[in-house]
Amino acid sequence: MTKRSIAIAALAFTALALAACSKTDSKTGSADANAHAESGFKHIGADDGDAARGKLLAAKKLAGGQACADCHGADGAKPLDATYPILAGQYQDYLFHAIQQYRDGGREHALMGAQIKAAADAGQMDDQAIADLAAYFATETGPLGDLHGK
Ligand code: HEC
Repeated sequence: MTKRSIAIAALAFTALALAACSKTDSKTGSADANAHAESGFKHIGADDGDAARGKLLAAKKLAGGQACADCHGADGAKPLDATYPILAGQYQDYLFHAIQQYRDGGREHALMGAQIKAAADAGQMDDQAIADLAAYFATETGPLGDLHGK
């Protein structure tokens, strides 16, 4: 193949890929979520959390025996131990996916994983609960920040 025909092939591939993408649902961005919606299942994403519900849940002792607040501090800004991560002001989607990963086994930690898995086994850690917790801690203020607007 000449360089020119490789470039044409690459363009044709891109056009096909774009055409395939446009079939996904524009609201959810996912063909899969669309299928769930049709079957009555609501897809919960990182932005679907309710910070007020998350605040209540963060303060509640869950099945693992402790509340998020016991280790991370009530507002997620002053953890019990200096080695525990600060959650206040962290990106909401980061928090959402991190908690999901502890629950689903993609991220392991003796203390944190045990708390989330015990809560999940007791039916306390579905995607909605995780989104609520993420919304709460993301909207609290603490020392975390980025350089947006600086
Ligand atoms: C027994 C103490 C303890 C409890 C209770 C606890 N955590 Fe954690 N959490 C930790 C520790 C320790 C880590 C760091 C683990 C690691 O390095 O992966 C952590 C990590 C995290 C992280 C990852 C933060 C990052 O910057 O990557 C999130 C998010 C989190 N916890 C949320 C929660 C939520 C929400 C709850 C309540 C449902 C909770 N934690 C309960 C101790 C705890």
